[in-house]
Amino acid sequence: MPENKKTIMSGMRPTGKLHIGHYMGVLKNWVELQNDYDCYYAIADWHALTTKYDETEELNKHIIDVATDWIASGINPEESTIYVQSLIPQIAELHVYLSMITPHNWVERDPALKDMVQILNKKTDEQEPKEPAQSGVVTYGLLGYPVLQSADIMIFNASLVPVGKDQVAHLELSRDIARKFNYIYKTDYFNEPQPKLTHAPLLKGIDGQKMGKSFNNDIKLSDTDKITTKKIMRAITDRSRIKRTDPGHPDECEVVYEYYSVFADEDIKDTVRKECSAGTRGCKDCKIELANLLNDHFKDIRAKRLELEQDTDYIKQVISEGSKKAKQRAAEVLEEVKDVMKLYKI
Ligand code: TRP
Ligand code: SF4
Repeated sequence: MPENKKTIMSGMRPTGKLHIGHYMGVLKNWVELQNDYDCYYAIADWHALTTKYDETEELNKHIIDVATDWIASGINPEESTIYVQSLIPQIAELHVYLSMITPHNWVERDPALKDMVQILNKKTDEQEPKEPAQSGVVTYGLLGYPVLQSADIMIFNASLVPVGKDQVAHLELSRDIARKFNYIYKTDYFNEPQPKLTHAPLLKGIDGQKMGKSFNNDIKLSDTDKITTKKIMRAITDRSRIKRTDPGHPDECEVVYEYYSVFADEDIKDTVRKECSAGTRGCKDCKIELANLLNDHFKDIRAKRLELEQDTDYIKQVISEGSKKAKQRAAEVLEEVKDVMKLYKI
């Protein structure tokens, strides 16, 4: 790998199998970047623990699932480094150093934290609260979420972070922390990491809300064609349309038509728009055609996934080798950081 490649770092929390929103919004971008950059992709299990510290039974399974989805989607382990965050203790050490210089009001003000607290509280409204876990309490670890994420990025001194829009606020804090470190220790050691967004529109869930596993409205990369079709048949359409011959409004068809805009070529989109507006297109047929488009789009990824599922040993080997490599690089950066900070060394 040429030395002059810039470093990219990004990650996902292992909370289960990934959905097509993850793919279109983030993963596809990762795949495209891997030739031109030195890429580190983390399965961020510590970040999963910030809210799900009492749900560890399936964590290992989730980690394998995420790695399988990534590789099936085209992340090439020969090119990119796939690793599990908790196997790199250097991240935790850097997190300690960064936590010393991060004012507490910086993390308290993090807008993403407010969203997470809302989700935590919602969870406890709907479920029997399990004590003490998930009682909607913001733990010390959850408060440090963006500082830990900064350590993830800075441990490889990455300059670019390909993420979804929801992560931009976290990254702003990462830049503030990197800048503050450089200022305090009179160095220019750390890059100020910039987000690298895609232009892909956010894919909504089939009910028109934000797509998410916990909302039971997602289409998984690992779903079969049959399940995908079944889910699309449940998707909301233009609600004002009652009879098949009523003229429809594609722009108010928030899920089906929006998916067409993402997955279909211009000709198909045009036809759908015209036929729908004229009332000559039934929503049922329209959905069947969309489901076919989706199934075609994800055909290769799904075939590859089925193959990889048979070979968990391979997935584990990728994680093990990637984590070893990540750890080596992390150790180098940490040594340099300790020098810059003038910490005690033997
Ligand atoms: N917080 C990110 C998410 O929920 C996951 C993540 C953890 C991450 N560490 C990261 C993303 C470092 C970018 C860089 O999606
Ligand atoms: Fe939506 Fe298609 Fe029905 Fe028009 S015909 S409202 S685009 S599902």
